[in-house]
Formats: sequence, structure tokens, C-alpha cells
Amino acid sequence: MRQSPLVVVANRLPIDDSVAPDGAFEWRRSPGGLVSALHPLLRHTPATWVGWAGGTGPAPHLPAVDGVRMHAVPLSGEDLRDHYEGFANATLWPLYHDAVEQPEYHRRWWEAYQRVNQRFAAAAAEVAEPGGLVWVQDYHLQLVPGLLRDLRPDLRIGFFLHVPFPPPELFMQLPRRAELLRGMLGADLIGFQRAQAAHNFAQLVTKVLELPATDRRIGVGDRVVRIGAFPVSIDTAEMAALATRPEVAERARRLRQDLGDPEHVILSVDRMDYTKGIEQRLKAYRELLASGDVKIPGTVLIQVAVPSRERVGQYQILRERVEHQVGRINGEFGRVGEPAIHYLSQPFDRAELVALYRIADVMAVTPLRDGMNLVAKEYVAARVDDTGALLLSEFAGAAAELEQAYLVNPHDLEGLKQALLAALRATPEDVSARMRAMRAHLHHHDIHAWARSYLRALDHTGSLLSRLATVD
Ligand code: ADP
Ligand code: F6P
Repeated sequence: MRQSPLVVVANRLPIDDSVAPDGAFEWRRSPGGLVSALHPLLRHTPATWVGWAGGTGPAPHLPAVDGVRMHAVPLSGEDLRDHYEGFANATLWPLYHDAVEQPEYHRRWWEAYQRVNQRFAAAAAEVAEPGGLVWVQDYHLQLVPGLLRDLRPDLRIGFFLHVPFPPPELFMQLPRRAELLRGMLGADLIGFQRAQAAHNFAQLVTKVLELPATDRRIGVGDRVVRIGAFPVSIDTAEMAALATRPEVAERARRLRQDLGDPEHVILSVDRMDYTKGIEQRLKAYRELLASGDVKIPGTVLIQVAVPSRERVGQYQILRERVEHQVGRINGEFGRVGEPAIHYLSQPFDRAELVALYRIADVMAVTPLRDGMNLVAKEYVAARVDDTGALLLSEFAGAAAELEQAYLVNPHDLEGLKQALLAALRATPEDVSARMRAMRAHLHHHDIHAWARSYLRALDHTGSLLSRLATVD
């Protein structure tokens, strides 16, 4: 087995498990923040990505993609059900997102979580060079840092949580809370999206494990584990370059024409997830249509909602409810050839997404809770002419950085309606001043700055990073 100086361990590999007719593999930018964040970073880096290739059964042997080796970890049908759909996405996911849906606790799911984390840790131990750097991602793999340290004490181990880390009163519900905290503490550096999350973690470690902790450092025996906020970002330059391509501009022009050249286009792009506030947003839009504050065909709403975690009950219920809501609103307010909502549940390639961002006069990003929300950042980066209003939930991690957005509490229906109207009616000068400030922020705080700051903090001697071109 060939070994790498940098190993990323994430639940998913960024490629499909199917081979194209010509036998070639391509990066598949699956809809999701983690792949979007790491894709630009790892291209052309001597690294191995350890993850699940989708599907069940034996792990496929995958060729390297853009120089990055793909190391697939197999999941059985039972692992998929009890680890991915169960403990990860029906226990931890709702718990970490303010319990906006009820987290479920099952002992069988915990068994599977341990078993699968063990498998990922063993795979990472196999492919990491002596003294190498291993970067473990997200809530599916919180036990991996501890398990990996037991297997390979020579490694530098980082852990980054892409989702929120909840306040103690919520986390304390978790039956196996001590084990999860201990698992994370196997890392040398634990990164969160926001300082509040690091604070929550420090409080919990003190309370549950009785370890000495501040919001920056935790004493674990003779080791010091550092914690901190590293807000994840996007490839700002790539997004801007895509937005200025002539074919994307032409596609945007055609899209707007196909919509009937409306005065205002409102866009939302989400995974179909109950944390994204889709139902609340549609309800607000319906009320604005009913009151006549918003009228078709002058204003149109495009809702992109790509299906996600489709076998998990709460996701199935959500999809049915959203699709019912869309049908009802279109039935009530649409006209022949002029729907009130253009609903698209398909994955799009990057160019098509950027063309959509380009035609959105208002981008409505209103999650009930979100670790970061990269869609908000992508929209800003794509608005190269400083037009476009971003309506952004206060409960998205991105709100801490994109302060010039039209900020809103998505639980407040009246507030949501007023904020949407304010964004629709804002003067071009106001819109442009806000967008300029947000774009300037993202110019400096892009994905490369994120990776650099995290990896430099992890590899404080700099001995490993000198070998990785993309973080120079
Ligand atoms: P999450 O991590 O919860 O999925 P983010 O907003 O952080 O949410 O990231 C979503 C990522 O998925 C973004 O990079 C976005 O461009 C991408 N994405 C969302 N919807 C689609 C879609 N329909 N087709 C392709 N990519 C999508
Ligand atoms: O961080 C949120 C997250 O779980 C990411 O790990 C992933 O990119 C995204 O949501 C999509 O989820 P899934 O991998 O379950 O399709």
C-alpha cells in the first residue's frame, strides 16, 4: 500500500462509484458543502482521500483523480442504515442543528457508529506516511481521531466539524456523550466553524470529562489539544471566473428570457433538508403572493432542492410536504406558462448553478441552523458586477462573516416577509454597497486561506506543509 504525507478522511469520496464508458473517472462534485470545500484544495496535491464510494458491498479499487489517491472504505447495507442514515443523520444531525427535528437514540446505531469509525481509522492508519498529517472531517467520524491515535501515535491528527456544535444543554441528551468527546480529543487540533462552537465544546469537556479547558486549549493527560474557529469558505476566484465566462453569461441571458424576462428573480438553492428552512420560506412567499405584495409574472421564485438522504424518514416526509406546498402555491397563484414557483429537484453542474446565481436579483438563504452555508458565499462570489441582494439567516455560520447581507430570523414569519420585501425593493446603491463589502471579504477569506490557516495551525513546525503546493 502506497502512503501519503496528507490524508483526508471524510465520510464520502468526492467521486461516483461508476466508471464512465471510456473508463475514465472524473471528480463528481456531489451536492454538499464538504466536497465543495475540499475539492479545490486537494487537486494536484500529493494526498489520499479516504471515504465511502456510495453503495454497499466490497470497496471498489479507484484510480487517482487529479493526483489525489482515492481509498474506498466499504459499507454493508447494515452499516449504511445504522451508521450513515441512523447515528450520523438521524441522531447527530438533528441534535447538532438545534434539534429542529427530534433526534433518535438507538443502541444498535451506536454499535454501527463505533464499527464504521474503527474501519475508517484503520484505513487512514494504512495509507498515512510515517509522521504524516491526517485531517478527519465531520460528524460521521468523531471517534476516528482517538482510534487513529491509538493505532498511529506518530501522526499529526486534525479534526474539523463542518456542522454546528450544539450548546451543552442539547449535547447532554446524547447517551454516549463522553465517548464522542473523547474520540474528538484524539486530535491535535479541533476546528469548528464558529467561536461559539469551540466555547460549547470546552464547556462540555470540563463538565463531562472534568478536563482543564479554555476556548483555545484542553489538557488531556500529557497532551494539549488546541481548539478554535476556522470558518470554511469557497474558491472565490474560481467562482468569479466561471461567472464571467461568455457561455455562462449567455446561459444566464437565456434562462432569464425563458422565465419571461421578469423584473425580479428570487432564487434558493438547498439540499432537501429540514435544517434549510424551505417550508418556512415558501410559506412566507405564499403569504406575500396572497397579500399582493409580490405578483407574478413580474416576480418569480426558483427553488432548487436536490433530494438528500432519501431513505431517512424525516427527509421523506419533508420532501412530500415541500412538493405538496409547491403544488398548492402554483395551483393557487400560477397561470398557464407562468408558475409562481419554478421547482427543480435536480443536481446541476457548476456552470448551470452559476448561471442561476447570475440571474438571481435576490438570493434567499434562510436555514433554521447551518454550520456555514456555502451557497451564500458562492452567490456573493458570482456577483462580479456588485449587484444582487443576499437574504441570509442569522442562524447560518456565514452570517458571522457576511454581515452586510439582509439578515433575517427565519422562525419569524412576519420578519421573513418584511426582509424579503426589503431585499426586493432595495435601491441599487444599497445593494451594490453591501455586495461590494461582502465580495471584498470573500476575496481574502477564501478556501485557500481556510486550508492555510487550519493546516498551519496543525503543522506548527511547517515540516509537512512545505511538501504541499496548494497551501504555500
Ligand atoms: P450542505 O453542506 O448542508 O449541503 P452548503 O450550502 O454548505 O450546504 O453546501 C452545498 C453545496 O452543494 C454547495 O457547494 C452548492 O453549490 C452545492 N449544491 C447545492 N445544490 C446543488 C444542486 N442542485 N446541484 C449541484 N450542486 C448543488
Ligand atoms: O457538512 C454537511 C454534510 O453532511 C457534508 O458532510 C456533506 O457534504 C453534505 O452535508 C451532504 O450530505 P450527504 O453526504 O449526507 O449527502
